[in-house]
Amino acid sequence: MEDPVVQRREEIAEIYEKGFLALSAVMLVAFLGALAYAAFAMNIELPSDEGQLNPREVRQTEPFSDPGPGVYQTGPNEYRVVLMSSAWRFNPAEIEVPAGSEVTFVGTSADVLHGFHIEGTRVNVMMIPGQVTKITYTFREPGQHDFVCHEYCGIGHHQMYGELTVTSGGEG
Ligand code: CUA
Repeated sequence: MEDPVVQRREEIAEIYEKGFLALSAVMLVAFLGALAYAAFAMNIELPSDEGQLNPREVRQTEPFSDPGPGVYQTGPNEYRVVLMSSAWRFNPAEIEVPAGSEVTFVGTSADVLHGFHIEGTRVNVMMIPGQVTKITYTFREPGQHDFVCHEYCGIGHHQMYGELTVTSGGEG
């Protein structure tokens, strides 16, 4: 025979236990949801596994040494932008491509953590010392896009920006 008081306590304990289990399940789903939201809705992307490099030798490492920062045409409608971020500038800071271009950005940081966000696009990545970041985007409409560093990187952070111009000269 079980003591009714003990039995009641056990029942209450069980209710709490179930409650906490349910709560942790809800929180797990909420965290996964937040992660999925960050990844898809806000377009935050982790750098690809494009490669790692010695952060002290960025300027001596391809493609940042050769061909070096710049805009390169790689096909009829394809461009490659080798992008160097450093405190507190982007190189190149002015990028021009024709409408319809598929542009692959290959970037890194020469010093601290920087960001690279092209306004009005899903290009929104981190530039991490020692890591090569790669992202491809097709610019369909002619126009101007500011791009900014969106990771706080020191006193000159707010002046770290550039401009990407999509000209109407593309073949579509
Ligand atoms: Cu670079 Cu903020």
